[in-house]
This record gives sequence, C-alpha cells and structure tokens, in this order.
Amino acid sequence: VPVSWTNSGVDLHLELPPGRGRRAALESALREAIRDGRLVAGAPLPASRVLATQLGVSRGVVVEAYAQLVAEGYLRSRPGAVTEIAQAPGLPQPATPRPHPEPKWAADLRFGRPDLSAFPRQAWVRALRRAMVETPHVELGPGDPRGSRQLREQLAGYLGRVRGVVTTPAQIVVCSGFSQGLRLACEALGGMGISSVGLEDPCLPDHRAVAAAAGLAVVPVEVDRDGARPPTGAAPSAFVLGPAHQAPLGATLATHRRIEFATRVTDTGGFLIEDDYDAEFRFDSRPVGALQGLAPESVLYIGTASKSLAPGLRLGWMVVPPALLDAVVEAKRRADRGTDVFTQLAFAQLVRSGDFDRHVRRMRQVYRRRRDAVLAVLASRGPAWDVLGIAAGLHVVAVLPDGISEDDVFAAAAKQSLALTTLRPFWHGEPQLRGIVVGYGTPYEHDYAEALTRFGRVIDALR
Ligand SMILES: Cc1ncc(COP(=O)(O)O)c(C=O)c1O
Repeated sequence: VPVSWTNSGVDLHLELPPGRGRRAALESALREAIRDGRLVAGAPLPASRVLATQLGVSRGVVVEAYAQLVAEGYLRSRPGAVTEIAQAPGLPQPATPRPHPEPKWAADLRFGRPDLSAFPRQAWVRALRRAMVETPHVELGPGDPRGSRQLREQLAGYLGRVRGVVTTPAQIVVCSGFSQGLRLACEALGGMGISSVGLEDPCLPDHRAVAAAAGLAVVPVEVDRDGARPPTGAAPSAFVLGPAHQAPLGATLATHRRIEFATRVTDTGGFLIEDDYDAEFRFDSRPVGALQGLAPESVLYIGTASKSLAPGLRLGWMVVPPALLDAVVEAKRRADRGTDVFTQLAFAQLVRSGDFDRHVRRMRQVYRRRRDAVLAVLASRGPAWDVLGIAAGLHVVAVLPDGISEDDVFAAAAKQSLALTTLRPFWHGEPQLRGIVVGYGTPYEHDYAEALTRFGRVIDALR
C-alpha cells in the first residue's frame, strides 16, 4: 500500500512490500527511509492513528512498529510529543558541506577570482529577504529581457555616480556576467554587418573563443604601457578593450588613446566594447572613468559582479548604445529570456541600501593591503622584478627577468604546492613577454599569509 503524508514539512512516500507481516513491512520501510536520508533526524512522524488509517492497518501495528524502531534507536518518542526521527547509532551522518573544497594545492595565487570567503552573506540575505517581501508577484513572470526595472534604475544611478557612465535604465541590459555580455555584443555586431573585432594581445583566451563562436574574425591589437595601441592601416571597426585595467597586463588606457579609439569608431560607424571587470578596485588616487562616457553612442559598456561579489552569481550589466540596443535585447531574449530575477532584485537592494558600496570600500582596503604585500615580497628579492598593473584590480604581473622561463616558474611553484598563472595562455600567438600573473585576490583572507610565504620561496628558487 503506498502511502504519502505531508506533515510539518515531511513529505514521504512509503511503500510496504507485499507478502510480509504489516508490522515488519512498516518497520523495514521506515528503516530504509531513514538510512537513505529521505527521513532526517528531527523530522516528525505522523500520529499512529493517522498512519494506521492511511495504511489500512490497526493502530496497534503502527504503535508496535514505532516502539520497535525507538528501541533500535531509529526513532525518538517523548510522552505527549510526536514521534520523530532520531540519529540512529551507526547510521551515516548526513553529508554536510565542507568549509573548503579539498585543496589540490596548498595555496592558490591564480588569476581571476576574488576572495570568495569575503562575500557579504549577511547583507545579501538581508537584501534578498527584503526583495522577497516587497516584490509584487508580477515581477516574477517572464518580464523584460533587459532585466528588472528596479535593478536597471539602480545601475543607471550607480554607474553614473561611480564610473561616469552616461545612460538611462532603458539602455541597460542585465546579463549573466561579462562573458554573456560579450557574446550578445558580438552577435549584435555581426547583425550590423561587422565581421571582425580587435581584441587586445594579450587578453583572456575565453574572450577570443567567445568572439570567434559568435562568428567574428579575431584580430590582435598590441598592448603597451599605455594600454591598447590603436592599429595603423586597415583595421576592424570594432574593438574589445579593458580601458581601466587591461587584462592581464594591467595598463590604464591613456587619454590620447581613448580619444583616438573613440574617434576612430565614431568615424567608421564601428563600436567599442568596454570590459570594466574590476574597476571598483582602484588603488591610486586617480579615478579613471569609463570610456563609455566619452562616446556613449559608440561604446557598449559591460560590468560584472564577478570581482566585486562572486563569479558564481553570474551577474553582469551592459550599457548599450541605441544603434545596438534592439539587437542586444533580442539576442538576450533568445539566449535565456532574462537573468534570474531574485539575483537581480537582491543586487538592486544591495546597491540601494548602500551595502554594496560599503562592501566594495572594505574590499578595496583588503586588496590594497594584499597588493602591497606582494610588491614587498618581490622588492625584498632584488631589484630585477618589473611589476605591471599595480594601480588596480586583483592581480599584478611580475615580468620574468631574462633567463627565467615560465616553465621554471611552474617547476618551482609545484615544489611549493602553489598554484600560479603565467602570461603564456593570454597571447594570441607568440608571447611578447614572460611573466607571472599573481592573483592576490584568490586566497581566503586567513590563507593569504601562507600563500605569500610560498610565493616568496618560489621567487627565491628562481634566482
Ligand atoms: C578581463 C576579464 N573580464 C571579465 C571577467 C568576468 O567575466 P564574467 O563576468 O563572465 O565572470 C573576468 C573574470 O575573470 C576577466 O578577467
């Protein structure tokens, strides 16, 4: 007889195997449900009278089965209270998530991640709770593919205030991180008849792959200490740039180059895609506004919560010039009909409450201290280390002195069980520079000192 009950949140399907005594069958069904975790410690069982009626057995059968399982330690009963599941001796404990995944490396300074242990969980829960309470039902529906109006309003204000972005909520499209934004932008460019796009060399290999997957030919654009260098001669009419903090070399795009790129795309009917991935974390006193503010008609700006909060949120935002807006919105609608509404609403509330600003300010101090500590480790080990991209972000590049290869770095790092990133995979073709991309954002705060100690030993071993 299959029986289901829903009682204080317990929804259990019990099926008594045929051909045995009812009592033995009930005992064994309950044992099995407890062992395989369908019934967990503390879950209440139905009153014996109720279960007996549902199973079509006498109440005595259920009372005896419960008593037997109490004696075996599977159940717990107190006079006047419901019988509930006990943690039976010898049963496997329910799996509890470990605080850290089992580390493969003793320490991790790889490029690309913020300190995930610093995620503002309390503030996020507050924001999400408020969003849950205050959001009208209608906002849970498939809405505007651009995203929640509330979030787009918050973003328009925030980006104007903090990044000098010129926009209205109507031009903002919420997306699943920079990666999706880039994909949607490339699709829109293709729709405009643009067939190739310039990407900085070096840049993230994933970004090359995304542009290529969208059907665009990828053209390398040289990078020096002033950032991307506008190409001479025939060149694509669209470019992906990281003006605030070029990834991975860390240059800030110089003012004359900003003007040159902006003028070029304005004149040719092209576009710039601005990757503003870690601009919240700028350490020198010189704030660098978004390039978008210089040419709002020609720059498609993309920001992300992947560095300021966590990459797992998959939350990003695009500010789209009018000429590309319809195409981007349609590409987003086709891709997934819009980004998860609760993440959007919680983030909108986080910005509205000021908790996002507070978190960013706090993390800026943390990352600045970490950057200073990396620089101190390198400075204490001789003057030969040229370090790039120190003004912002979550990483620096330590350029390798002559005679040291990236393989030497990996060999020394392996001895220290330290995970590191080098420049090699970022180049489109032949490497122009060898270096270590030190992702000082990655370790959890309490692991950072250990990571730096190991990093120091790696540097020592290279000399
Ligand atoms: C240069 C650059 N852009 C963008 C991103 C963010 O990508 P997403 O928002 O898709 O997580 C990263 C993350 O590592 C990055 O390094």
